[in-house]
This record gives sequence, structure tokens and C-alpha cells, in this order.
Amino acid sequence: MTQATYVVIGNPIAHSKSPLIHAAFAAQFAGHPAVAGFLYDKLLAPMDGFVACVAQFAAAGGRGANVTVPFKEEAFRLTETLSERAQAAGAVNTLQLQSDGSWLGDNTDGAGLVADVLRHIDIQGKRILLLGAGGAARGVILPLLAQEPASLTLANRTFGKAQALIAHFQPNTPIPLQACEFAAVAGQFDLIINATSASLGGERLPIADSVFAPVALAYDMMYGKAETPFLAQAREAGVTQRVDGLGMLVGQAAEAFHLWTGLRPDVAPVLDWMRAQL
Ligand code: ATR
Repeated sequence: MTQATYVVIGNPIAHSKSPLIHAAFAAQFAGHPAVAGFLYDKLLAPMDGFVACVAQFAAAGGRGANVTVPFKEEAFRLTETLSERAQAAGAVNTLQLQSDGSWLGDNTDGAGLVADVLRHIDIQGKRILLLGAGGAARGVILPLLAQEPASLTLANRTFGKAQALIAHFQPNTPIPLQACEFAAVAGQFDLIINATSASLGGERLPIADSVFAPVALAYDMMYGKAETPFLAQAREAGVTQRVDGLGMLVGQAAEAFHLWTGLRPDVAPVLDWMRAQL
């Protein structure tokens, strides 16, 4: 078991960039009492051993954890106290040890996305098209709605999943939400966000170029050294501002770091540094 006070737990975990990001954040506050003893490591949990792994980590002095694939939903089910945004996301990506020894489950993914989008455009009053209806899409809906967009349209390959998500969120917001199939996406949008995993397979989405025409910002939650298929599609359709998800990754980490330490790190230099390492 690790001696670290903070970890990212997943399976696989070797590829995770979270330790680099958190070490860079902690270095920004060197000497500050809130980061005294801050040591962040990776923790590989067996596929059937997430709960035992978290318990061992706590017993060894762990104070907080990030949770990644495939344990975010399991962490959600097993955490007694959940933040509102974790409840809305149906998933937990951040755990914080409470004074009574229990864990608080939070989800900082949506806040990370929103913070990164706001570095480029305002969201208030904007028409959002969100592509995908899996965990990644669900996790960002509440934080996006908190920015008071004019509308949010959710398009997904499997229409029923988009419908179910809209039915879940619409009763709690006056903002008009709509579900549709990719082929039926019509109308004008200011912000288009790809939360599907289609880019992983190198695939483009069956969305008409005309949908991209007035878009001010195309955002792909995926990232990589090469341009993602979705951002290539947006570029060819004429969208000038195109951003990949590396900033969301650093942003969700910044939110977790803030939860644990009360400190707000400067994201920009860490993002530049991470970009240079891709
Ligand atoms: P995640 O946690 O990353 O959201 P997920 O819950 O498996 O993962 O969801 C993946 C999302 O990507 C879904 O919206 C999925 O569409 P379906 O609901 O129809 O399965 C979408 N997706 C995956 N591959 C896709 C592809 N090749 N084309 C379009 N959508 C795709």
C-alpha cells in the first residue's frame, strides 16, 4: 500500500497523468500548511477490489482520492455522503475523508469542463448541443445548466438514453432541454460539446456540417497529441475555436485539489506544461 496521502484509483492506472498535475499544483503552494505532507500517487485496484482498496488506503493514512475508470459508478453507489453534483452525475470522481472517518463523494468533472469552456466563451444565454448520453455527458449537465444557457440539446446514437437523461434533468430546471438523434440535429448552436467516445475509435459523428456553421466553440472531451476526429470535423465545417479535453482533465484536478486543500491552483501553466508533454 502506498504512503501517499492522496491517490488516483483505477484499473488500469499506469497511464494516469493525475500525479503529475497534482504535484505541479502542490508545487505552486510550496511551504503552505495546507499542502504539508501532500503526496499524490497512483493506486491500482483489482477489478473486484475497489472497496477494499479504499479501506486499506484510509487505514494507511489516506485523506483523499480521485476515482477513475471503471470505478466511478461503484464509488457513487458506495459513498454515503454525496455532493449535489455527484448525485446529478451518478458518479464519483473525488473522495474526501471526513472527520468521522467516512468518505464524502464529489464529482469535479463537470466543473472542470465548465471552467475550461469559460476560458474561451461565456455560457450564459448560449445554445448548447451536447453529444453523447453516457457517464461523461451526464456528469457535465448540472454544471452546464448552472451557467444558465438558453437551451441544451442532447443528441445520442441511442435515442432512448438521451431521452432518459433529459427526463431526469428537466423537472429541476426551467432551461429548455431536448433530446434528439444525430441525424435529426437541426437548428443553431453556439457551443457544441462531444461527450461520446466515438473519437476513441477514430470515428466521426453523423452530424451535418450545417449544424457546425454558427458554432462559436467546438469542445471535445477527448484529447491527444493529434487532432481528434471530432475537432477535425468541426475545423472542416468552419468552426474557428476548437478545444480538446486536456483542459477539462487539468480543471477537474484543480477542483479536487481545492476540495482537499482549500487552495485554488493556477491551471494555465500546468495545462501548457501538460500540452508540451503530449
Ligand atoms: P462514458 O463514461 O465515456 O460516457 P459510456 O457511458 O460508455 O462512456 O458512453 C459512451 C457514449 O459514447 C455513449 O453516448 C455512446 O452512444 P450510445 O449510447 O449509443 O452507446 C457514445 N458512442 C460510443 N461510440 C460511438 C460511436 N462510434 N458513434 C457515436 N456514438 C458513440
